[in-house]
Amino acid sequence: MRKSAADRFRHLFNRSLILLRHRHHHHPFPSSSSLSPFSRSRFFSSTPFSMASDSPFPVTAQNINPKVLKCEYAVRGEVVTLAQNLQKDLQANPGSHPFDEILYCNIGNPQSLGQQPITFFREVLALCDHPAILDKSETQGLFSTDAIQRAWQIVDQIPGRATGAYSHSQGVKGLRDTIAAGIEERDGFPANPDDIFMTDGASPAVHNMMQLLIRSENDGILCPIPQYPLYSASIDLHGGFLVPYYLDEATGWGLEIPELKKQLEAAKSKGINVRALVVINPGNPTGQVLGEENQRDIVEFCKQEGLVLLADEVYQENVYVPEKKFHSFKKVSRSMGYGENDITLVSFQSVSKGYHGECGKRGGYMEVTGFSAEVREQIYKVASVNLCSNISGQILASLVMSPPKVNSLHL
Ligand SMILES: Cc1ncc(COP(=O)(O)O)c(C=O)c1O
Repeated sequence: MRKSAADRFRHLFNRSLILLRHRHHHHPFPSSSSLSPFSRSRFFSSTPFSMASDSPFPVTAQNINPKVLKCEYAVRGEVVTLAQNLQKDLQANPGSHPFDEILYCNIGNPQSLGQQPITFFREVLALCDHPAILDKSETQGLFSTDAIQRAWQIVDQIPGRATGAYSHSQGVKGLRDTIAAGIEERDGFPANPDDIFMTDGASPAVHNMMQLLIRSENDGILCPIPQYPLYSASIDLHGGFLVPYYLDEATGWGLEIPELKKQLEAAKSKGINVRALVVINPGNPTGQVLGEENQRDIVEFCKQEGLVLLADEVYQENVYVPEKKFHSFKKVSRSMGYGENDITLVSFQSVSKGYHGECGKRGGYMEVTGFSAEVREQIYKVASVNLCSNISGQILASLVMSPPKVNSLHL
């Protein structure tokens, strides 16, 4: 018997509450505020660990980096663990539950739920990975002409035509040129390929920025609540302080400037140096699309307060309300007359979201503007420590920012 998605979710949720209550019975659960980071992580950890003295392992949960212990990532947390256990149950004993399948909706992962990849993207990727077939006559019958043309263009941009080689640490220059041109077309303002740092999805780019900005636990990052938990996890991992600001459900999850000011002042009064403001637009999990006026106020706020604006814009294609439109923060700040020297802005984009949903390909970039040459050098140095992001992800990021257009085929 198949159950509705809502029933499945309710069932899973109730099971997880039962599991939590059960644990509570065995381990008195102090309020989370009275838990040390260590004990809080221990409570939420899904794998029990033994005490250091009993352990045959030199590395134990007591002696690893406490920032790792403190970090929580709900997307892969308790409910997912429960679902994986239920799945094992179902495999071992089919029919043991009133459902026969588990759909994982803990993270936006459309292709795992049956969404088909965009043919053009996959054809270009396949051809770039095996350029030897590009000029074979059979290829004309198997692949679309525009995919073949684009693949030629891309392989010619990749040094040695080798998708198996490391690239420039910021990403292949020709692909960054395409991305910059795509940004320019989207925003109507210039974009510089040297400002683009290609990454394995948006997540590593967010970590890069947290690593750059957070010096100690006195450094704070303003983050929306509710938020996508990458931000809280990354701030914990880098040992910073999450300064929450609350989105207002009553105004469609609006981002209110007085709320930002209130939280900023509260953090300052506790001795926190607030370094950056994270804005997720369009929002996750809230789905709101900010209005341009509101975005202008946010830009002004960051400028006045000297905050780096970290704009998570990975959902720019996911706007489902006809009267709403996505505006990038880069476009908004440039249309206010603010250039490189006026506002420090990092925009994150990804191949995982939008209509393409290529999460597993791990592609994305950050556009980094308004940093001094010295700091950019440091960002570049850290990017080079990782050598480069994967080339398929880089190619996809260029395609996402420059998809085929009607009548664009040159025959
Ligand atoms: C708001 C937001 N930012 C960033 C990410 C990370 O995406 P990725 O690392 O796959 O690009 C996600 C993923 O769900 C997200 O929802």
